[in-house]
Amino acid sequence: MATHETDTALDVARIRADFPILAREVNGRPLAYLDSASTSQKPRAVLDAMRAFYVTANANVHRGVYTLGVESTDAFEAARDAVQGLLNAPSRREVVFTRNTTEAINLVAQTHGRATCGPGDVIVSTVLEHHANLVPWQVLAEQTGATLRFLDIDDEGHLQLDALDGFAREGRVRIVAVTHQSNTLGVRPPVDEIVRWAHAQGAVVVLDAAQTVPNRPVDVQTLGADFVAFSGHKTLGPTGIGALWGREELLQAMPPFLTGGEMIRSVRLDRTAWNTLPWKFEAGTPAYAEAVALHAAIDYLTAVGLEAIDAHELRITAYALDRLAEVPGLRVVGPRDAALRGGVVSFVLDDVHPHDVAEILDRHAVCVRAGHHCTQPLVERLGLAATVRASFYLYTATDDVDRLVEGLLDARRVMGV
Ligand SMILES: Cc1ncc(COP(=O)(O)O)c(C=O)c1O
Repeated sequence: MATHETDTALDVARIRADFPILAREVNGRPLAYLDSASTSQKPRAVLDAMRAFYVTANANVHRGVYTLGVESTDAFEAARDAVQGLLNAPSRREVVFTRNTTEAINLVAQTHGRATCGPGDVIVSTVLEHHANLVPWQVLAEQTGATLRFLDIDDEGHLQLDALDGFAREGRVRIVAVTHQSNTLGVRPPVDEIVRWAHAQGAVVVLDAAQTVPNRPVDVQTLGADFVAFSGHKTLGPTGIGALWGREELLQAMPPFLTGGEMIRSVRLDRTAWNTLPWKFEAGTPAYAEAVALHAAIDYLTAVGLEAIDAHELRITAYALDRLAEVPGLRVVGPRDAALRGGVVSFVLDDVHPHDVAEILDRHAVCVRAGHHCTQPLVERLGLAATVRASFYLYTATDDVDRLVEGLLDARRVMGV
């Protein structure tokens, strides 16, 4: 077995005790939850924070002058400060709450994109992308007449950057949209190089950090991207809350996305003045209770340590790659080297359909995802229709991986391969 010993090893047993759902059984067996790339489970601290907020401080934000309204506004804005700290953003004005990564990327496409792209312009994305970082750019290209180009990958999923200069010859590159880590292959693109190239073209970089903010330090100042999006529900937080970080000068110049509510400074029947940042982009009642719970999630992650979580995922991934190699007929897709990927392993098993594999694994209480993982162009590029995906997080134990392997050996027996 490959080991990657560091002095930041997590106490996984202690961490698991913080997640009530991990104590439940499915089909009479203890749960092996291997679908954290889809959504994370929630520690008690997050569940308690959301409940305590509703029990003690609930009132709409930015409206009431009474004590509850002030307290809930303070708690909501404190959550923004926590996101600012998590991302090391230079200013809280740059942190916009959204429902999730998908909404954050659509916001950029429909505001910055609509304002800057036109015929003769080029938008660059990649075949690695989740649909959330692909379809908004397709729609934008249709709306504006810009050309959309995709970077291809090699057989392990590494982006082939040599195509970039060819894209630049087709027109003025305005936007480069890339994932920080593929949710299907786990591969981590060379963002530094992509940012350098994009900025040399005068383009902005939109980074889909849905798969990295949860499990490693993401510092927007060192990354150099112009927009960074993530989802709270993959980051130990609740659903319905995510965030977009954007450079202040870009956010200032952008028109609003949705209108109504707190994004307005004053309304007359003939015109409306927008609020200042970040509220200009937060229309209607925001998910403030969810923001408070996300704050608790950030505190939890920070206390455990994102570097330690990243190191743990690397160890678990290396362990999983070794153990999966013991299953006859199993083929892992994506980088063979665990050091080149995050805690996501996709694979196919001989002629067994991934949905059958996932269904048999469920009998073992092993939760994995089967399908194209909202990356249909990528899975097709790999010559497949679907894969089975196991994904790991801070609470994943080697025992979960062992149970996955046992379940896969059973799937082979049941399916007669
Ligand atoms: C890389 C990546 N981008 C975007 C998304 C979309 O996230 P959400 O559904 O929370 O908007 C996901 C979710 O799986 C993802 O893995």
